[in-house]
Amino acid sequence: MNSTVTHLEGAIDGTRLPAGQLHGLHAGRPIWVRYDLDAVRRLVTPTMIAARPPSLWRYRELLPLPFNVEPVTLGEGMTPLLNCPRLGGQLGLSKLWVKDESQLPTGAFKSRGMTAAISMAKWLGVKRVALPTAGNAGGAAAAYAARAGMECYVFMPTDTPVVNQFEPHLYGAKAFRVNGLINDCGKIVKDGAERMGWFDLSTLKEPYRIEGKKTMGLEVAEQLGWRLPDVILYPTGGGTGLIGMAKAFHELMELGWIERRPLPRFYSCQAEGCAPIVTAFNNGERHAELFPNARTIASGLRVPVAVGDFMILDSIRASGGKALAGSEAKIAPWMVRASTAEGISICPETAVCFDVLEQLLASGDVQHNEEIVVFNTGAATKYLEALPVELPLLDKDHLDWGRIAG
Ligand SMILES: Cc1ncc(COP(=O)(O)O)c(C=O)c1O
Repeated sequence: MNSTVTHLEGAIDGTRLPAGQLHGLHAGRPIWVRYDLDAVRRLVTPTMIAARPPSLWRYRELLPLPFNVEPVTLGEGMTPLLNCPRLGGQLGLSKLWVKDESQLPTGAFKSRGMTAAISMAKWLGVKRVALPTAGNAGGAAAAYAARAGMECYVFMPTDTPVVNQFEPHLYGAKAFRVNGLINDCGKIVKDGAERMGWFDLSTLKEPYRIEGKKTMGLEVAEQLGWRLPDVILYPTGGGTGLIGMAKAFHELMELGWIERRPLPRFYSCQAEGCAPIVTAFNNGERHAELFPNARTIASGLRVPVAVGDFMILDSIRASGGKALAGSEAKIAPWMVRASTAEGISICPETAVCFDVLEQLLASGDVQHNEEIVVFNTGAATKYLEALPVELPLLDKDHLDWGRIAG
């Protein structure tokens, strides 16, 4: 047996699609990968997985790449699930964890999706990929494309963080700034597919980035001893992370590797300046409207329209969670507060989650004794613009110790 994938499936209408070939959208919407979970159960056990190297490819039987094909990898995962007693103490929480995705190869969780998507694209004969990006996906795609020996085209809004502009250049991609938002960049990628012969690697417009992101959920379960927390806070833009994790938990339940108990409540966190999922959730809708004048320093959350909106909203509702917006003014203070408390490099997107967590504690939606996992999806050091800093200058010949002592 070379793979446990049985087929692919249109997420909007359940249409069965063949495995082992390139896919984009189906009926304008994303595609799921489906596995023979009985076969997975026969091939591997949690004990066998525990003995494998600490990379997300340890979950090989639950990933789409055929077993005899080498993945395109930079040694991504596992990321630490860090206990946060000091920050938890400040918030009155006894069980607060941060899953620190900033430690992945390109400093953000986007590496997970890209190792899976680029591996599959390479196996299926793709030589050139293109994608729109809010920032981190472009850097990760460029790095993995370089690793695969593939050409990569990246399109990003003009005011994308400078480090995200630097990354594709560093990894030899052709990168462009566009006077618009990520959806405008997405249109360029779509329109150029025929003329440029590239494969569209946009969020959720191919089936395999979700599978890579799914490993965040697999890792959390394994790191907690094959059980799940009560609550997960996740910064949501395009939604692959949240959708992928929900998929992971269902697969683990089907496998019998975790208990059939209520799944964690997903709290989808968006910035008030771009909160289409929050608006749709509050209005009881399954699809989100384009969010007007999207603006936030949490650039990964500046996604005014998501092709997988219904998958995000279905996952949140099925879990008993909610979608909430965090305040723009609190992003920078929360980056510093959370990073200072625990020494973790907290990105602006995750700073939004901490504001949302405070709201949830105040409203009683989350109890102080619950076990909570917050995803830190990227490294703060990638966002120089979010937290402009000028350190005090010292004269080395006339040291002012009063100033140093502060
Ligand atoms: C740091 C960071 N966090 C969160 C997100 C949102 O990701 P998702 O597509 O999983 O909603 C992004 C997307 O660009 C990001 O870069």
